[in-house]
Amino acid sequence: MTRQDDFRSKYGPWAVVAGASDGIGAAFARQLAARGLNLVLVARRGERLAELGARLTTDYRIQIRNLVVDLAYDGGPVVVAEQTGDLEIGLLVFNAAFSLIGSFFEQSLEAHYREVALNCRAPMTMAYLFGKRMLARGRGGILLMSSLSAFQGTPLVSNYAATKAYNLSLAEGLWDELRARGIDVLACCAGATETPAFLATKPRSPRFISVPVMKPDEVAREALAALGRKPSLITGWQNRFSSFLMRRMLSRRIAIRLMGQTMRAMYAPLE
Ligand SMILES: NC(=O)c1ccc[n+]([C@@H]2O[C@H](COP(=O)([O-])OP(=O)(O)OC[C@H]3O[C@@H](n4cnc5c(N)ncnc54)[C@H](OP(=O)(O)O)[C@@H]3O)[C@@H](O)[C@H]2O)c1
Repeated sequence: MTRQDDFRSKYGPWAVVAGASDGIGAAFARQLAARGLNLVLVARRGERLAELGARLTTDYRIQIRNLVVDLAYDGGPVVVAEQTGDLEIGLLVFNAAFSLIGSFFEQSLEAHYREVALNCRAPMTMAYLFGKRMLARGRGGILLMSSLSAFQGTPLVSNYAATKAYNLSLAEGLWDELRARGIDVLACCAGATETPAFLATKPRSPRFISVPVMKPDEVAREALAALGRKPSLITGWQNRFSSFLMRRMLSRRIAIRLMGQTMRAMYAPLE
């Protein structure tokens, strides 16, 4: 049996990629298709999903189901569960997220609620609904996207960073709860990644520190390789190194201030 067969029998025959139309989610979709999994692609932009789904069907001869759903809306995750009730889902990748950048008080409270709804409520609900189905089968995988910002308070994205800490903690707790029951859980903590959403924020390179920027494919590849091997992963050796320094060598106070300086250098006019 090849590693690809192993992957498909553990996490197939279908995977759900929530937030699949762009960036890291589209990279996950392509790499899962290459491993022979059928895909449920979820996002709001139906045209992009249709384009991606058509390409993956042609390139990899897999089955695709596209679901145009707003996952920030309370009932969104339940709609996805209902619309896939006839499929055997072996893997959930929750990748969708919303990130406000700028001073906490300059954003509306509604926008902060939307960030919490999409980044916390939705992955928790989907992990619950799909995790229960996986428990009944005795196998599967759940991958939640987190971020380097999960490890300490991060100025200018304070609420976003807190939502990513939630995902890291949720995935790590579930990793231990579920590992004896055949289900692998992973939190993937990415650093800056060259996605359309990241580039649209127009980050500037800070002069005093180099911020490594990874490609979406690299992030997805590392995450899928780590699933089943550990509870959480920081992608990229430079990110692992800087995170190690921040967490083990600096006081929490200094680490947070360094994050603040970096964020201000990248996004100063937004503050
Ligand atoms: N890029 C980075 O530098 C970076 C760094 C650390 C962590 N991450 C994490 O990695 C993940 C992906 O980041 P990315 O940069 O690839 O993000 P992105 O380009 O904004 O992609 C997010 C995906 O989620 C979908 N989405 C957004 N809002 C949605 C909603 N309300 N309902 C359903 N789908 C929704 C988007 O599609 P539609 O717009 O079509 O709905 C898109 O497919 C996120 O969890 C992010 O926190 C990214």
